[in-house]
Amino acid sequence: MYNIAIVAFVTIVLLLVSLASSTQGRRISPAPPCDFPAIYNFGDSNSDTGAISAAFWPTPSPYGTSYFGKPAGRNSDGRLIVDFIAEHLGLPYLSPYLDSIGTNFRHGANLATAGSTIIRQNESIFENGLSPFSLDIQTVQHYQFKTRTSELYHQARNPMEKNKLPRPQEFSRALYTFDIGQNDLATGFRKFSMPQLRAAIPDIVNQFAVAITDMLWASQEQRSCLVWAKANDQRHERLRRRLWVAGDVC
Ligand SMILES: *[C@@H]1O[C@H](CO)[C@@H](O)[C@H](O)[C@H]1NC(C)=O
Repeated sequence: MYNIAIVAFVTIVLLLVSLASSTQGRRISPAPPCDFPAIYNFGDSNSDTGAISAAFWPTPSPYGTSYFGKPAGRNSDGRLIVDFIAEHLGLPYLSPYLDSIGTNFRHGANLATAGSTIIRQNESIFENGLSPFSLDIQTVQHYQFKTRTSELYHQARNPMEKNKLPRPQEFSRALYTFDIGQNDLATGFRKFSMPQLRAAIPDIVNQFAVAITDMLWASQEQRSCLVWAKANDQRHERLRRRLWVAGDVC
């Protein structure tokens, strides 16, 4: 039985990751080694490795100059957290799902786009820079990516064709990372009063949980591993419970 691993960087929570927690306060056994064959990442500019750059405007200099030597599709001069995770796992940097050239999806794909939100905002990117690829759309894209991979893999006529594709059986062993939410807050500051924004946060968190649980159910996995964001808040406890599918924490 495989594990799906989820790292949720809920940027609306602000405090970060690495509280591995169990449902009934059980002590967690030591983590198994991180031998993930692929990464699937969802999010915004914190982890976009070139999607908006490919789909709209190339990221301008000086982004990328001090590490990559030129703009590298990231809204950052250096590497992003998702780049460091890939390096640590010995995997190549993630290609953006939306990029049409020079991509390699053998070890996963990046669905993140700069300006993404959890809640679909129905705004043009040309107004306030919000991406049309909100989290719900990213999960649909991932579903389509997975379905098409499976079809193409089974139609592939030779090993060379197969080697360009992810292994269908590796989806359930991949690491799934999420880094999204800050643009929901930024939009809230623009559109709402403070009390209205506070009142909207449970819905944002709920939508986040729905996107992840839908994806887990769609993958029909029996077990999941969580590295969970630490937060002193009932709402996040609720989210943690919703995210909990079954099984052990890795
Ligand atoms: C965007 O449009 C969808 C579909 O019409 C709607 O369900 C949703 O509430 C809208 N989002 C916002 C933030 O207005």
